[in-house]
Amino acid sequence: MRAVVFERYGEPAEVREVADPQPAEHGVVVRVEATGLCRSDWHGWQGHDPDIALPHVPGHELAGVVEAVGARVTGWRAGDRVTVPFVCACGSCPACAAGDQQVCERQTQPGFTHWGSFAHYVALDHADVNLVAVPDGMSYATAASLGCRFATAYRAVVRQGRVAAGEWVAVHGCGGVGLSAVMIAAAAGARVVAVDVSPGALELARRFGAAECVDASAAADPAEAVRDLTGGGAHLSLDALGAPATCAASVNGLRRRGRHVQVGLLPSPTGTTPVPMARAIALELELLGSHGMAAHSYPPMLELVRTGVLRPDLLVTATIGLDAAPAALAAMGTAPGAGVTVVEPWS
Ligand SMILES: NC(=O)c1ccc[n+]([C@@H]2O[C@H](COP(=O)([O-])OP(=O)(O)OC[C@H]3O[C@@H](n4cnc5c(N)ncnc54)[C@H](O)[C@@H]3O)[C@@H](O)[C@H]2O)c1
Ligand SMILES: [Zn+2]
Ligand SMILES: [Zn+2]
Repeated sequence: MRAVVFERYGEPAEVREVADPQPAEHGVVVRVEATGLCRSDWHGWQGHDPDIALPHVPGHELAGVVEAVGARVTGWRAGDRVTVPFVCACGSCPACAAGDQQVCERQTQPGFTHWGSFAHYVALDHADVNLVAVPDGMSYATAASLGCRFATAYRAVVRQGRVAAGEWVAVHGCGGVGLSAVMIAAAAGARVVAVDVSPGALELARRFGAAECVDASAAADPAEAVRDLTGGGAHLSLDALGAPATCAASVNGLRRRGRHVQVGLLPSPTGTTPVPMARAIALELELLGSHGMAAHSYPPMLELVRTGVLRPDLLVTATIGLDAAPAALAAMGTAPGAGVTVVEPWS
């Protein structure tokens, strides 16, 4: 098959022929019809993820058709249209037993722990635990977003963030995760303040329901701008980029007893960043993390998509072939944000 491969961190990837993957006993191989370009792929390429072994094929935000099925899989067959949470859970560890597959103790992740979906085919483990049927009529490009960023944003806003109608929600970084969060929070009846350095990203945020926008490249202090716009601070705030500046601004833009949800990955090898803990204490803030979303939690989100309340299809602003993927991956380091790019490996 053809796949995007990199041999060294941060050096150009290339498209080349590699061996087709084989399904594990409990897994499947999926023919990849669409796979989103997520900033986590860029982090992996930069060497920020200790799970990655070289050479490597990135890609984890995918949808496609089941091609081959392992002997112990009972719920899926060749020809099924599927997407998958990028955290593929084992189904049997204590976290999985508690229903928390998104933090499975023995998770695998396509594009991180093994070769991913910037390829014609990808292997996915524990198919009966992890696969999600793509609803009739949903395109593969839209379904792909449900594999990572849209679903991640849904859990971050709705479950971890416990958004409520009428609340102020600040979203720092309005790319794939952030724009999804803007749309989901607005649909929940929240008033959203979108923060980004890219005018194009802020324009999209407004289109997807943001009531207010802050240009972080122009504002002296984006957190102060959020506090001013929200009458004292947001109830809920997300760092949807993952940087010291956006994490701190998210925490500093909260009101008393507000909730911060860290979604963006911190780039350093240790993933650490300074957090204004004095403010967290004095204002009794909640500091939360959010990691993907388990397959069994998809139905309420899919129902909102089916009824048109949520429109992940609108997030896709560019569709490219496999040959253009290496340059698009590299451009994530420099280019301003403007929606979601989807790779269609067979186009
Ligand atoms: N926790 C999880 O489960 C999970 C899942 C998916 C992605 N992620 C992480 O979420 C983060 C976002 O991913 P993405 O694919 O949406 O990224 P993206 O590149 O699509 O979007 C990032 C956005 O941040 C904006 N930005 C840059 N500097 C900024 C600043 N100083 N202030 C405000 N905005 C700024 C960019 O213009 C862009 O619009 C990444 O770190 C990714 O690895 C985490
Ligand atoms: Zn992702
Ligand atoms: Zn598990």
